[in-house]
Amino acid sequence: AAATAAASAAGAGVAAAARSRKPSDALVFDKDAYTVLTTTVATDDGDKAVTYHFYKAITYVTNPVDAKYQCLNVSVPVEIDGTAVDATRAPILFANSVGGYMPSSVADATGVGGSAMTPPGGGGGGGGGGGGQAAMVSNAKLAVAAGYVVVEPGARGRTLVDADGTYYGTAPTAIVDLKAAVRYVRFNKGRIPGNTDRIVSSGTSAGGALSALLGASGDSPLYEADLRELGAAPASDAIFAGGAWCPIADLEHADMAYEWNWGGNKLSSGDTVDQAVSKELRSAFAEYQAALKLRGKHGFGPLTARTYDDYLVKTYLAPAATTYLKALPAADRSDYLAKNPWLTWSGDRAAFAWSDFLTHVGARKKNTPAFDPFDLSAPENNLFGTGTTKTRHFTLYSLRHATGNASARLDGDLPRKLDLMNPMFFIEQRNPGRAKHWWIRVGTKDTDTSLTVVGNLAAGLENLGDDVDALMYWDAGHGANEDAADFMTWIGRVTG
Ligand code: DHB
Repeated sequence: AAATAAASAAGAGVAAAARSRKPSDALVFDKDAYTVLTTTVATDDGDKAVTYHFYKAITYVTNPVDAKYQCLNVSVPVEIDGTAVDATRAPILFANSVGGYMPSSVADATGVGGSAMTPPGGGGGGGGGGGGQAAMVSNAKLAVAAGYVVVEPGARGRTLVDADGTYYGTAPTAIVDLKAAVRYVRFNKGRIPGNTDRIVSSGTSAGGALSALLGASGDSPLYEADLRELGAAPASDAIFAGGAWCPIADLEHADMAYEWNWGGNKLSSGDTVDQAVSKELRSAFAEYQAALKLRGKHGFGPLTARTYDDYLVKTYLAPAATTYLKALPAADRSDYLAKNPWLTWSGDRAAFAWSDFLTHVGARKKNTPAFDPFDLSAPENNLFGTGTTKTRHFTLYSLRHATGNASARLDGDLPRKLDLMNPMFFIEQRNPGRAKHWWIRVGTKDTDTSLTVVGNLAAGLENLGDDVDALMYWDAGHGANEDAADFMTWIGRVTG
């Protein structure tokens, strides 16, 4: 009893000390704590010499679990090609560098776009986000060269494990961290340079999914308890615009979608995937897609498993091929057309059949099921791990198949975690705090996930009336970012 009394007396003392200094005082941005850096950025208009203020490794919560990850860098351009610039009211690019749902730290970065990166895919299956990292680096650098403020947040990721063997970076920690970082920025309105009501998020692959989720889930109360526990700043986490490149999103439906899209394609080894599994998942996709009740843009009508191939060809694929071929010198275009006789070029427009497109793409990257494999070998199995359990199934289909128990149930915490990780959940909820401006991109040869993931994300937002700029890059693979200059222009336009 005495020990308890002493402990509670000590506790009261600590509480009194804490009261005299609000926890959020620790989250006040120090506008003088920068170093002056210079960089040369290659842009479409030639090299730009940029001088900027670099604020490094600012912890964005008062109770960090791991400050190596829960910190952010800020870059503020002050001079571009010898001309002074004032970024006080400039848009803010919030560029995450998450790949493979791995931890991402900016603590050792030496300048803008220079985050120390852990290569994704350590858990098998996924990965291949290297191209995406490079793409995001160029977004961050291009943004300072365009006169924008750049915030680069770190975030916890799935592989982090403490001395007791507890995984502390599994879902939903990465999105909670990114939201805490947004709250830090908005809390510092008037102190941090840039317009905190014009935050534009960017990310690629897993980072693209998190960027889309950040935009879709703005100010959702569902993260409140987690944010409070971290000591996140008392401010809105809504963002103005969301940019997502090849988002690896809608994970609990991604196995079905993958088989609908790439089910007939062989692996790079030449092997065919398990056809029974592929067909079951493919038919599950039809049910899921129908339940979404989405409509295609330009008056296309219902987006279903039956119409989606036609929709992708008309709305994304043929226009992507057209853009690509138009940009080629005439001799290269003739060459491409000669090598790809399944594609017709008439009146400056490309046309082809879905089945020929699938053959053209060739090998699928992942076996079946692509995201929740029976042997728990995918990065996503680790993403949905918990406590000292490194990997778990997160779909009923794979759980039941793997265990042979037809009435097995997912662990009770999983349905909520799946929602908290899925932008489609917040779109279906018509979340009023979501971003209303969107930039969505994917390469047509990206078989890391189904092309319907981008199709549904864009359609879901379009159907809510949001401003969506979505297109695909012809023949581009995972992580492509082929119109970064246009993204900079778009940021200026939508935030202006
Ligand atoms: C990434 C790629 C994947 O194929 C995946 O399943 C998850 C993440 C990535 O590159 O971030």
